[in-house]
Amino acid sequence: MTSQPRQSVLFVCLGNICRSPLAEGVFRHVLQNRGAAGRFLVDSAGTGGWHAGSPPDPRSVEIAARHGIDLTAQRARRIADGDFARFDLVLAMDRSNRAELKARAGGGRLDRIHLLMDFALGEARDVPDPYYGGADGFETVYRMIRAASEALAEKLAAPWDGPDRGQASSTR
Ligand code: 4NP
Repeated sequence: MTSQPRQSVLFVCLGNICRSPLAEGVFRHVLQNRGAAGRFLVDSAGTGGWHAGSPPDPRSVEIAARHGIDLTAQRARRIADGDFARFDLVLAMDRSNRAELKARAGGGRLDRIHLLMDFALGEARDVPDPYYGGADGFETVYRMIRAASEALAEKLAAPWDGPDRGQASSTR
């Protein structure tokens, strides 16, 4: 039996407790809904390490739970040099995260680093940092991340949905 190659996606924000753990959980959930989770390695990290080892912010845990997504097993970590080789895609939540990632990545890895909303939806905008705001900020972040995750799954998982998908059928 041949197995399809696993694609790998790393979501990155500043602290890895609010936005990127939510993106990790939501994207995994979206993939599960499509029966595609086994074909992906999904993870998240922060450009900063202040919260390393901590669970996601309770406000992220709460909004995810409201949508049937459990983030409680996730733990924050700082981006490591090896991540730039290990992950096919490194998706930053905002421009500042992206600039930090590009500064850290070794040569030849820069093309893996993108802004999430731009890569997924063609919208060159940031997922705003909700840390110092209220619950409505997390609602906004959830909606943006959910839309991006659905688009990302469509973009990355679709080619495997069937051998002739998206092509004029001439072979079967
Ligand atoms: P995140 O949010 O980058 O979405 O995880 C933040 C979390 C913590 C801090 C800033 C942003 N902080 O300054 O500790």
